[in-house]
Amino acid sequence: MDSQAKTILLKDYRPPAYLIEEVALAVDLFEERARVCSRLVCRRNIGTAPDAPLVLQGEDLVLKSVALDGVPLTPDQYRLEEESLTIPTVGERFLLAVETELYPQKNTSLDGLYRSSSNFCTQCEAEGFRKITYFLDRPDVLARYEVTISAEQERYPVLLANGNLVETGVLPEGRHYARWQDPFPKPSYLFAMVAGNLVKIADTFVTRSGRSVALEIYVQAHNQDKCAHAMASLKKAMAWDEETFGLEYDLDQYMIVAVDDFNMGAMENKGLNLFNSKYVLARPDTATDADYEGIEAVIGHEYFHNWTGNRVTCRDWFQLSLKEGLTVFRDQQFTADQVSAPVKRIHDVRLLRNVQFPEDNGPMAHPVRPDSYMEINNFYTVTIYEKGAEIIRMLHTLLGVELFRQGLALYLTHHDGRAATTDDFVQAMAEVSGRDLAQFKRWYTQAGTPRLTVQGEYDPEARTYTLRLAQATPATPGQPEKEPLHIPVALGLLDGQGKEMPLTCPERQPEAGRNLFELRETQETIRFSGVPEQPRLSILRNFSAPLKVEYGCDEEELLFLFRYDRDPFNRWEAGQCLASRLLLGLVEDFRKSRPLQLDERFVAACGRLLAEEGGDKGFLALLLTLPSEEYLAEQMAVVDVEAIHAARTFARQTLARSLRPQWEQGYAANRSAGPYRYEPELAGQRALRNLCLAYLMSTEDDAATQLALAQFRGTDNMTDQMAAFAGLAHSGRPERQQAIADFYQQWQGDSLVLDKWFAVQATAPLPETLAAVQALMDHPAFQLKNPNKVRALLGSFAAGNPVCFHEVSGRGYAFLAEQILALDPLNPQVAARLAARLGRGARYDAGRQGLMRTQLERIAAIPSLSRDVYEVVSKSLG
Ligand code: ALA
Ligand code: ZN
Repeated sequence: MDSQAKTILLKDYRPPAYLIEEVALAVDLFEERARVCSRLVCRRNIGTAPDAPLVLQGEDLVLKSVALDGVPLTPDQYRLEEESLTIPTVGERFLLAVETELYPQKNTSLDGLYRSSSNFCTQCEAEGFRKITYFLDRPDVLARYEVTISAEQERYPVLLANGNLVETGVLPEGRHYARWQDPFPKPSYLFAMVAGNLVKIADTFVTRSGRSVALEIYVQAHNQDKCAHAMASLKKAMAWDEETFGLEYDLDQYMIVAVDDFNMGAMENKGLNLFNSKYVLARPDTATDADYEGIEAVIGHEYFHNWTGNRVTCRDWFQLSLKEGLTVFRDQQFTADQVSAPVKRIHDVRLLRNVQFPEDNGPMAHPVRPDSYMEINNFYTVTIYEKGAEIIRMLHTLLGVELFRQGLALYLTHHDGRAATTDDFVQAMAEVSGRDLAQFKRWYTQAGTPRLTVQGEYDPEARTYTLRLAQATPATPGQPEKEPLHIPVALGLLDGQGKEMPLTCPERQPEAGRNLFELRETQETIRFSGVPEQPRLSILRNFSAPLKVEYGCDEEELLFLFRYDRDPFNRWEAGQCLASRLLLGLVEDFRKSRPLQLDERFVAACGRLLAEEGGDKGFLALLLTLPSEEYLAEQMAVVDVEAIHAARTFARQTLARSLRPQWEQGYAANRSAGPYRYEPELAGQRALRNLCLAYLMSTEDDAATQLALAQFRGTDNMTDQMAAFAGLAHSGRPERQQAIADFYQQWQGDSLVLDKWFAVQATAPLPETLAAVQALMDHPAFQLKNPNKVRALLGSFAAGNPVCFHEVSGRGYAFLAEQILALDPLNPQVAARLAARLGRGARYDAGRQGLMRTQLERIAAIPSLSRDVYEVVSKSLG
């Protein structure tokens, strides 16, 4: 287990001893194997001792030959180990030729070169290139690539790699080849190639400087009619980055290939993005509004990486958030500009709270710039991505739009064509703004979700309002003590009519017009003067920092803000705070077997919202949605899954019954006319209508069931069909089985829609669900080798069905452990993600803690565990 236990440390970072300037790669693909010949133009790096050996990484490769400057090496002239090839003596500049053989057909890890739907494709981030050839497989080695692929012409008519196509030709025995050159130096993780039988959807984009770029999406022939939205999204993203940040595309061709078997969402390889087909394919009858939005966001994300990731890349993998946090922020802004900005912000914050906060509070908690890891694939996390994006957002908030834009431009100019660090990024922001951001950088180095405690005091005599703010970040693994953070706090004070009060704060002027305050100390006071009446405090507007606010205001104040706050995020937030309080109260009542009762003021507030005319309907739907079970769990010292589920179900049913006419009216009034179109306003209307249906369905009565059945059968789009299907399948009604059977019957030919079918069944909060999930493992459409299927069935069960997964006997845990053990030899990355679900034991009662621990120990006892699962399990066991 030595290699598994090896921890890589940021402080051990050293520049590479050798650099690779040019790579010529010849990849010959056959049915049983692939042959790769690489010719590397290398040179010794400045500062490297002349006798330093050249150490290349390589995994699962059969070495055929090595030649140095044209002279073949004998085995005693190099050292071959499990994961490396060492050549003890090389010159200052030299040409290294390495020939290897590999077996993509057997590569189930989906890392490196592998097969999916009888095509060949690659995924090299983070360290997959070393499974293709021996290389300096690290992001700070940037080289120019020329790639020649050869394969059988009939089976693989399409041969793609990064950059520009420079040559094609036929070869003997029905084979052909294509040669690609990428003029931009890049690290190996951005290498990609594809060989397959694919159709091309083509379009063009003219950049603002007048260059015409060929846009191409490659899919299997039967998916040809599902690419229009992805193409439109790409064009929007290209235009947006020009307008917003002045960034243009830099090659003549931009290709996207959709792949069914993919560990991640998508990959930004230079000029040749590879996408999980989930983030490309959409047709109104197969994809929901959320899918449409997700496609637009991920297409944007990968496109934006061309500058933030590819032109400027990461020095080492500890800097992963340099490209990911920044690019997520960019895709969030892009989406916000396409849809309703408040709805987008709320979605992002919900993801942060439901997934990142628990991660930050568990055994895998790590800073946005981690200082150690065993397996980098375990660090493609919501902390690196989403909390990383929040850090960028705070810089954007602190500097303002214009300075942020200048800072990004400076960063890109300064580091173009090179590998950089998060410090470099912050430095650029400091330079353009003249600000001292040294303390701000703690956001990158400290893990854990900070708490901000707020107390407000009004003095009617002095007409002052005093805010006392205290910040604290809890201890996390390896970080017992924390320093205070530099926190941007946006706030407002409302008068009794709900009007914004002007803020006068003699001791510290808020940022002009933005009501933004900057905290730097553990405890701070902000005193407002000339305050004519007791104000209502709207704190942390638009969620200006990723932290938990503790503010002991009363329920009347929350109801007031829920009604009047001008900041849409905080209006929603007030409702969520209020609902959380009420629900946590119900949880206590349930635990003590007291009768449950929902606060009538809250019911009335919801009723009033439903009666509102016009406005942003997607936003209204969010105002009316109760906090999730995960979010409620986050707020309990010891999570009680049953009580949470019971309390939330009770609240939903009470709202449903008390406001029945309003839900019915909302349902009827928000039927959209005409065929489905993906447009934010229409999507908002569908969201509201389907929320009405969900409330009505929560009581599981005949009338609501009929409504759901009619929608299930009679709609032209997947958004409405899924809403009805989920309502039926999650109910205890006899109709549920028929709906499950009908849905399968209708969609058995569409793998992505079947993922929804698996996920809906796996998330049903019903006693029979575990048995159903177990049975579905044997369904012909389920494949353990396909990550989308694993996420749909096992991921949804473990992460989206707390009552069943945490069922008191521990059967859910045992089942998951079994699947992790079955999956680990096939696909360690995906297995490790599932394993993280067993690592949250500390949040539960002693019984469940013990049961989860037993399963972790059972996994840990396997000697051949992957490094991925080993890291998660060993850290979870503590
Ligand atoms: N680098 C891939 C992404 O876009 C995984 O997030
Ligand atoms: Zn990314």
